[in-house]
Amino acid sequence: MEKCDTLIVGARLIDGTGAPAVLRDVAVRDGRIVAIEAPGGLSGWSADATFDAEGKVLAPGFIDVHTHDDTHVIRSPQMMPKITQGVTTVIVGNCGISASPVTLKGDPPDPMNLLGDAAAFRYPTFAAYVDAVNEAQPTVNVGALIGHTALRNNHMDRLDRAASGDEVAAMRAQLEEALDNGALGLSSGLAYGSAFNAPPEEVQALAEPLAKAGALYTTHMRTEFDAILDAMDEAYRVGRHARVPVVISHLKCAGPSNWGRSTEVLKSIETTRDGQPVGCDCYPYNRSSSTLDLKQVTGDIDITITWSTPHPEMAGKLIREVADEWQVSQQEAGKRLQPAGAVYHNMSEDDVRRILSHPATMVGSDGLPNDPLPHPRLWGAFPRVLGHYARDTALIPLEEAVRKMTSLSARRFGLTERGEVKLGYHADLVVFDPERVRDAATFAEPQQAADGIDAVWVNGVLTYRERAVTGARAGRFVARGSASRLDAQGAF
Ligand code: ZN
Ligand code: CU
Repeated sequence: MEKCDTLIVGARLIDGTGAPAVLRDVAVRDGRIVAIEAPGGLSGWSADATFDAEGKVLAPGFIDVHTHDDTHVIRSPQMMPKITQGVTTVIVGNCGISASPVTLKGDPPDPMNLLGDAAAFRYPTFAAYVDAVNEAQPTVNVGALIGHTALRNNHMDRLDRAASGDEVAAMRAQLEEALDNGALGLSSGLAYGSAFNAPPEEVQALAEPLAKAGALYTTHMRTEFDAILDAMDEAYRVGRHARVPVVISHLKCAGPSNWGRSTEVLKSIETTRDGQPVGCDCYPYNRSSSTLDLKQVTGDIDITITWSTPHPEMAGKLIREVADEWQVSQQEAGKRLQPAGAVYHNMSEDDVRRILSHPATMVGSDGLPNDPLPHPRLWGAFPRVLGHYARDTALIPLEEAVRKMTSLSARRFGLTERGEVKLGYHADLVVFDPERVRDAATFAEPQQAADGIDAVWVNGVLTYRERAVTGARAGRFVARGSASRLDAQGAF
């Protein structure tokens, strides 16, 4: 008689590749998927635990490709916002900001403050960060990008200028140390003041070591407003120069004058994909969130304040309301609120739907775990795609929704043997109820666990069940997988 740790029986298996759901029983042993058979095919097996998944969907655990969980995986290793969604792997270090390798001279510059205050930055090398993750033992696996802005801040006296040749060389040396220790690639956040004055050549030079390591380049582009196509071209040029795949982060058409241009923007990706690997991620909401940027306080959209260091009492109010209360302009109110966080009502729903449904698009939450009134994407992004977009509004088939959060993501980022329910793969698994799955987090009440996520296994260990964590924490640092390099190319 064959033995295993866990049997999951009666499930509708959605394997992550986009293939149609089929009834399957699955066996897990020592953290791996060891058998996948038609119903009853594993009746001769004995298991320490059997999970009845009849009427439910079994899928690969979701991969959150766009997170700012760098310090959160260490400080709050239960990772409630993510494990409750069925997320089993997070990729940290997006938008040019990473917790490592970092040596601060004072307070973290905007937007590195999204990751915490100065005390949160304790990892002068990437190897130190990897050790800290493994010591913390979060519930989820952690892959990591290295932030361009973080590297700039290590070596530059001021960030409102281009890096010198020597400074770029010093940044490159740190990036190489990180790549040697399994970092997935380089991220940039060129829209932010802390990187906006970095010329394209600076990023291109920094990106040169990526190809040899089989790593990739992700970017929060220089602009998501009217000049978005130029910003996309700039991103593609980095990819061509360094001969690496490019991922455009949280792709969106921001600002009312830009609404409706998603067709054009996606066309640009399609045309470019013929010549080089390019993809994107997005979150399923028509509002964005970050630190409060005075350049975006233009009066043509609503902006909700989520936190403010000098005026915490204004959290939850529109900047317009704050300005009225203080009898000042919105710009002046914005200045007085700084440093602050904001939700920008700056996208059209049609654009969100078009970008989310495009086959090149992965799902990434872009959640901000240190925000006291976080954008609901932190707790809701994945179930919202499954419930609201796939089921309730029939935007995409459920199998395609799952592919965007599993196999597509694993192949692109070089996460070996994850992202599919496949023989021999790591047993990162989620069972959810396709009728009930939905996001519960709202802008008013954002810290709420999703409904319909029944069970989550990470590396074969049952971690979440019946709306509660089991206490087990089986996540680990995941290094870039060299074996999947060819795969990664194919996936674009
Ligand atoms: Zn970003
Ligand atoms: Cu981000």
